[in-house]
Amino acid sequence: MILTVNGEVREAAPRPGQCLRTLLREHGWYGVKKGCDAGDCGACTVHLDGEPVHSCLVPAFRAEGRAITTIEGLAGPCRPGEGPPAVLHPMQEAFLAAQGFQCGFCTPGMIMTAAALDQGQRRDLATALKGNLCRCTGYRAIGDAIAGIGHVDRDTDGAPDPCGRNLPAPAGAAVVSGTARYTLDVPLEGMLHMKVLRSPHAHARVLRIDRAAALAVPGVVAVLTHDDAPAKRFSTGRHQDPLDDARDTRVLDDVVRFVGQRVAAVVALGEAAAEAGCAALVVDYEVRPAVFDPHRALMPEAPPVHARAGGAAGTHSNLAAEVHGEIGDVAAGFSQADLIHEGTYVSQRVQHAHLETHAAIGWRDAAGRLVIRSSTQVPFLTRDALADLFHLAPEAVRVVCGRVGGGFGGKQEMLTEDLVALAVLATGRPVAWETTREEQFVGATSRHAMRVGVKIGALRDGTLTAIALHVVSDTGAYGNHAGGVIHHGCNEVIGVYRCPNKRVDAYAVHTHTVPAGAFRGYGLSQTVFAVESAMDELARGLGIDPFAMRRLNVVRPGDAMVSTSLAPHDVAYGSYGLDQCLDRVEEALAAMPPAVPPSPDWLTGEGMAMAMIDTIPPRGHVAEASVALTPEGRYALSVGTAEFGNGTTTVLGQIAASALGTTPDRIAIRQADTDAVGHDTGAYGSTGIVVAGQASLRAATALAEAIRAAAAARAGVAAEVCRLGIDAVAVPGGAVALADLAREGALVGHGRADGTPRSVAFNVQGFRVAVHRLSGEVRILDSVQAADAGRVMNPMQCRGQIEGGVAQALGAALYEDMRIDDAGAVTTRTLRDYHVPSFADVPRTTVLFADTHDGIGPLGAKSMSESPFNPVAPALANAIRDATGARLTQTPFAPDRIFRAVMATAGSGLEGPQRP
Ligand code: FES
Repeated sequence: MILTVNGEVREAAPRPGQCLRTLLREHGWYGVKKGCDAGDCGACTVHLDGEPVHSCLVPAFRAEGRAITTIEGLAGPCRPGEGPPAVLHPMQEAFLAAQGFQCGFCTPGMIMTAAALDQGQRRDLATALKGNLCRCTGYRAIGDAIAGIGHVDRDTDGAPDPCGRNLPAPAGAAVVSGTARYTLDVPLEGMLHMKVLRSPHAHARVLRIDRAAALAVPGVVAVLTHDDAPAKRFSTGRHQDPLDDARDTRVLDDVVRFVGQRVAAVVALGEAAAEAGCAALVVDYEVRPAVFDPHRALMPEAPPVHARAGGAAGTHSNLAAEVHGEIGDVAAGFSQADLIHEGTYVSQRVQHAHLETHAAIGWRDAAGRLVIRSSTQVPFLTRDALADLFHLAPEAVRVVCGRVGGGFGGKQEMLTEDLVALAVLATGRPVAWETTREEQFVGATSRHAMRVGVKIGALRDGTLTAIALHVVSDTGAYGNHAGGVIHHGCNEVIGVYRCPNKRVDAYAVHTHTVPAGAFRGYGLSQTVFAVESAMDELARGLGIDPFAMRRLNVVRPGDAMVSTSLAPHDVAYGSYGLDQCLDRVEEALAAMPPAVPPSPDWLTGEGMAMAMIDTIPPRGHVAEASVALTPEGRYALSVGTAEFGNGTTTVLGQIAASALGTTPDRIAIRQADTDAVGHDTGAYGSTGIVVAGQASLRAATALAEAIRAAAAARAGVAAEVCRLGIDAVAVPGGAVALADLAREGALVGHGRADGTPRSVAFNVQGFRVAVHRLSGEVRILDSVQAADAGRVMNPMQCRGQIEGGVAQALGAALYEDMRIDDAGAVTTRTLRDYHVPSFADVPRTTVLFADTHDGIGPLGAKSMSESPFNPVAPALANAIRDATGARLTQTPFAPDRIFRAVMATAGSGLEGPQRP
């Protein structure tokens, strides 16, 4: 057939059943993305004769004779592989001006849809964008882009300090033009493709795998089973200290412990052959008993998930980790209390649903080294894990990232790289593996489901006397992040309260279900839901306003940072803006006009909640950086952290530019390549700005001093009187060009940060809602979040992080739910079933910032990436409680759950749904 794309005409031969999306990518149009291959997400949107279509739903042969436009050709004819066009399409310009993207993976499809809208459709984006999902932004910036509202400050030369300004993301033009390169956006000719057979059983021993039929499938090159995999066990969870996570996972195992676990891999010339090979595999299983509920899993008769003695003497082998601690005397504290609230709050599994699914490509380079190009938040830790697993020297392995299409903690795991490495080493040929959306649900990680028992006591005046938490966390079949999540989840949530008596008992429990893992908030979203809901009930019982209750009891500078241990540690108040956050949300809610119920069946109410987060994980998080002066008199910053939409690249450029007295556009940034840049523990734990930023600041400061010294030597003056300018160093009576200094010798600055001491950041969320007393529908009338991010380095970008966090948390609070059936299988396997929030689902959130300057973070900055998520569910629950009288103790707040709670409250004769 003749394929006409972006004005270029080519011969093409689509395979039977092939969709247009994959055909376009095979011809080099990588701006056409895959988020689902089911027509749910819109990342693959192209124009067919000017009409936007989801190319994953269009049979490739139907495109014959039709004009296809991809994001690359939106501004005009082009050829595959070209960079951003000199002149962008107006809608691409609009997305740049509003920075209507974060990771940018949804952006090509979003722009293609938006560019085709007429004026009427633009007035109803809730309808017009119902076929396009964005997981990162919360949609406000996308709406602004389509409305022509810009935020980016493009005047890079005009202001003396780049920090604190809305400077654009360096990759912006590449993102909006579809020329940014994600993991799989490279030519794959000659590459083998891998597909994976997954377990249909929750617990079974693999007795036999017959490969013969699979190997007979034309195109199949290899079948890999547990016989081919290293016997060594590892953890998919990656931390600076690899011993943080249980080494309980094999690349391919002869025991499967959840439905969806990898059983075998087929490597073939194409994906279809690999799929056919998987279908031809014959596997004999010995099915074993399984347990799916963490409480049952702790019973003596429960089948062990791992055949090992676990935990301390007398504890069950299904106990993956536990945390216990007490300060003061909790029993005495409760005996002093005038009022005690006790409740149990349940949080469900939710999926990260980053639009770019997990993927990796592997090959051997000319020197025979193993190279993995991966969508990961932790390239260095993945490199180290692969070297350990396959008995290779770390120098014999290279891990490199393209742009990463979202992560939210899900890519702090090694979920594809190990199997791709095995396939490369086994076949000696390059191999690619792209997981499907279904595999994301059944085989990747999720948030830990938790049941949190809370007991809080207070005096009549509201002063807290004791807090106790009892947490049971379902970590699933493997122990990645099991201990870390309960440690973190039980720390800041009570550390933020100045209460003399605190106790925590937390258990992470194995079940025969898909493993949980690192997820935005790292345990805090579940425990904050519990504690902040309980605090609201306690305040109500005492007749104290919820803001006043917090002001009375929150920690203040000078207080010890204490959760359940008095041991000295490295968290300090580098700055403190919780008081401002509380004030700003309260003032913002008060200033809003009174809520008008749509009808008498709608009940309105307000709620708030707060959260604290340590700005860095404990026990070290290392980042190295270097900045070099280039021969052109510009700068090259090398730093390890990966960019996955969190915006660190932008801010690192701002920080380095500030130290060097230059503009961020004069700094080229290279990152996330274990061969090319210094070590970085990874882009997780809210560390991008505060750790990699600190290392970048130190490197840039060192280079600035070196440049001043070189200029001083050349001019024969003291370094102290030399001033760095954009192109030259000003010296008394003249100037020394930076390019001249670079030609005289290499000038490089190095910096390192090890993640200690750590500061704290705060978020306060407020909602105003209307709840339909009969249908259980919730409408968010107003949403406001105040954040203490220290010095806000890029307000536009930080606002976007907060809006995106609120949107993702609203999904988790209202409808996202990974359902698991009685046989342990995940039943929500598509974005459509799972319900990632769309444009229509997300209200605008007013974002306010505390005015603080952190003494620990670089140039006063703190982190603000995962924490906006944490107070959302309890603030919403508290608002629904205010509206209806019903206390919701389980997320998601589905309409049927709300209806039952409202009816139960009405039936109780207590504060019921008729209350105005
Ligand atoms: Fe939309 Fe990441 S920017 S999915």
